[in-house]
Amino acid sequence: MKELICKVIKNQKVGPYTYLMELEFLNTEAIKPGHFLMIRAWNGLDPLSRRAFAVADKRKDSVSIYYDVVGKGTALMSKLREGESIRVLGPLGKRLFPMDGQKHLLLGGGIGLSGLSLLAKELRDLGKEVFVCYGARNSEGLSMKEWLKESGLSFRIFTDDGSEGERGSVLDALKDFDKDWIVHACGPMGMLRALQRMLEGRKVYLSLEAPMACGWGVCLGCVVRSKNGEFLRVCYDGPVFDAEEVVL
Ligand SMILES: Cc1cc2nc3c(=O)[nH]c(=O)nc-3n(C[C@H](O)[C@H](O)[C@H](O)COP(=O)(O)OP(=O)(O)OC[C@H]3O[C@@H](n4cnc5c(N)ncnc54)[C@H](O)[C@@H]3O)c2cc1C
Ligand code: FES
Repeated sequence: MKELICKVIKNQKVGPYTYLMELEFLNTEAIKPGHFLMIRAWNGLDPLSRRAFAVADKRKDSVSIYYDVVGKGTALMSKLREGESIRVLGPLGKRLFPMDGQKHLLLGGGIGLSGLSLLAKELRDLGKEVFVCYGARNSEGLSMKEWLKESGLSFRIFTDDGSEGERGSVLDALKDFDKDWIVHACGPMGMLRALQRMLEGRKVYLSLEAPMACGWGVCLGCVVRSKNGEFLRVCYDGPVFDAEEVVL
């Protein structure tokens, strides 16, 4: 896979520790909901590996990602200025969100909503019914709230401490949607594990995050186990899996 050199169009702070980056990207037609990019925003070998980010949105010749600053790689990304260039691999991921069915419930935990935002937009453009539940620990963590409000989508907001929206987790909303709704979720591992215990015959798809070094299936750094004992590479066999399929 060829590494692309992409110019930074925007790198804007949108929350206490979250940034929205827009990158020049030619030929975005190939990008589908669930795809991710591996980004190297620094010269040299520290950090050694590229970092993975979901494509949160795309236009004709640019893509956007939302990222939380959690360590060295994302701290370096946050320093990039408009007009600088970075190295990008992608779009990556083989198994993406299924878009058949009419009713889609999207559950985003924290920055995990950025893994669902392109899906929301494309489902809506196909005339499907879309409902988004967005949750975080507290109101400070709701860094995609403006995007959600401006999207025109139907939504509910949850915070663990009740500082904004409903007190509780996005999983609390599940009881209000019947089993005709196809569920797509992206968020912290604890949230996805809890969701797996609530399936009760629902169709649920999980977009997983795992530590990744290569992003295209060769290093085996990102494996999870399937229920029948196989090893699955999140980058190459996923990143979207049927919730019935994987052991988290
Ligand atoms: C397919 C995929 C899509 C992703 N999409 C996004 C996104 O859209 N926005 C976003 O903010 N983040 C996303 N992530 C997570 C992002 O890749 C990590 O936050 C990033 O690699 C951290 O790099 P760092 O050098 O700043 O931190 P590091 O120094 O590498 O790590 C700092 C902390 O973050 C944890 N961490 C590192 N990598 C991951 C990971 N892959 N998953 C969970 N925790 C991790 C480490 O355990 C450590 O506690 C995604 C990950 C994957 C695999
Ligand atoms: S990140 Fe290398 S195999 Fe998945």
